[in-house]
Amino acid sequence: MRRLVLLFAIATAVPVWSAQPVRAKNGMVVSVEPHATEVGVKILQAGGNAVDAAVAVGLALAVTHPSAGNLGGGGFMLVRLADGRTAFLDFRERAPAAASRNMYLDANGKATQDSTLGYRASGVPGTVRGLELASQKFGKLPWAQLVRPAADLASKGYALSYSEANSMRGGGRGMERFPESKRVFLRDGKYYEPGETFVQADLGRTLDRIARLGGKDFYEGETARLLAADMQEHGGLITLADLKNYKAIERQPLTGKYRGYDIITAPPPSSGGVGILQMLGVLEGTDFAKAGAGSAMAVHYITEAMRHFFADRSEHLGDPDFVKVPLTALLDPKYILKIRDSIDPEKATPSSQVHAAVFNGHESNETTHYSVADAQGNVVAVTYTLNGGYGSKVTATGLGFLLNNEMDDFAPKPGEANMYGLIQGEFNAIQPGKTPLSSMVPTILMRDGKPFAVLGSPGGPTIINTVLEVAINMIDWNMNVQDAVNWPRFHHQWLPDELRMENGYSPDTIDLLTKRGYTVKRIGAQGECAAIRFNNGWLEGAADPRSGGTAAGY
Ligand code: GLY
Repeated sequence: MRRLVLLFAIATAVPVWSAQPVRAKNGMVVSVEPHATEVGVKILQAGGNAVDAAVAVGLALAVTHPSAGNLGGGGFMLVRLADGRTAFLDFRERAPAAASRNMYLDANGKATQDSTLGYRASGVPGTVRGLELASQKFGKLPWAQLVRPAADLASKGYALSYSEANSMRGGGRGMERFPESKRVFLRDGKYYEPGETFVQADLGRTLDRIARLGGKDFYEGETARLLAADMQEHGGLITLADLKNYKAIERQPLTGKYRGYDIITAPPPSSGGVGILQMLGVLEGTDFAKAGAGSAMAVHYITEAMRHFFADRSEHLGDPDFVKVPLTALLDPKYILKIRDSIDPEKATPSSQVHAAVFNGHESNETTHYSVADAQGNVVAVTYTLNGGYGSKVTATGLGFLLNNEMDDFAPKPGEANMYGLIQGEFNAIQPGKTPLSSMVPTILMRDGKPFAVLGSPGGPTIINTVLEVAINMIDWNMNVQDAVNWPRFHHQWLPDELRMENGYSPDTIDLLTKRGYTVKRIGAQGECAAIRFNNGWLEGAADPRSGGTAAGY
């Protein structure tokens, strides 16, 4: 490793006070929407474990946070049970059987909007199957008891928060094109106001069936039939057979170490866990942390690690059931050392010198993460999504839930930009039954064999860097969990070769980074982390002030 010079270590990010997390002894839930958080706490109080609460929160968010909470999307659940077992449930959307590599290209070979908007944008939804599998494998309470709070929220209604009402109005830009979405979420143009009671009768009936009949209703029963008919009528690809064949997959979590902490994280088809482990590996052998949180030197080292990982991401990651992901090579200590040695302590490395492939993107917060812990020591992290805000903007007729536009997480045209501006390669090309590559990375940090923290975030490609930074804030800079979540964030993803920094970094820090050769772009909020830390018998919950979320325990 080259000499690390600490000359310009002092300029720091703005926050200097300590924010306090929510503390409780018996259970903790952190989610992006207060009603859903409350549902989780009530399930814990009723004798449910963390998995029960996580299932109920996921279903509740499908009602109260419709931009990302979902029945019509998919995601990942990471579980670490008190007895030491771990599990990673992949209930991400799969490409329908009729999907094909060039399905989003027009007659001239040009990419169309169809991968992001409308019926053809949806992969086969996995959320109901995934949550049901979690309940069956690890839960204590009956399934119906976990679904009922969501069904009640939908059919009886709840008071819309400012952020949710505002978000629906914003989502209207696309939803107004689809009569069912316009009717349900935009009240035919008379937008819902904050504080108004929002009733979703169709969704309530769908959830009632799911409560009574289980996931079978969604994948083979009345919900499946109505969804497949709606798809057929509007040119969508998802058939009854696709729904019936959908399986959630249990995978081995990815594990690694950093400064004595054990990391349990997301394996492919997430790119996130590989990223977290590779970047921490690069950083562990440097003295970046001595420069201090928010210093130009620390930002420089972390950014260089990001740059290298995102270059790898563009080429080497995809669905492991379809392509051979070179996991061992990407995490090989010799390779990690090579990356570390290539970092110049003084200067930004131009991305053009890092890799030849092209990967370009921008963040979106339209996914959601929640974290749950119970008194027994069971810990659950869930990140799930419709992909874009309000997904494909299509509400399934008569069913009340929005459908995902996750097909855009594939490379709709390998070599050309998708919705996030992502230019990806053949590893992530569309094939029937395949899972699109994800950045979602629910993560659990362990210390001395016990949970230390659980965390995750939405934010497209920024998810990986947000989780990295919050983990570093706690481990390297000993921040409490709320400070770690609040701390200003930054993002680099190789290409475009720019360092995006939240407001909160001082002009001095920006100046030092600019002198090192960075093109700094100021951004608003990056991510919405939901984290819990375990501290001397206390569960400390931190919702992200960037979101309308809450932490609550008992
Ligand atoms: N749809 C966002 C992600 O999975 O990364």
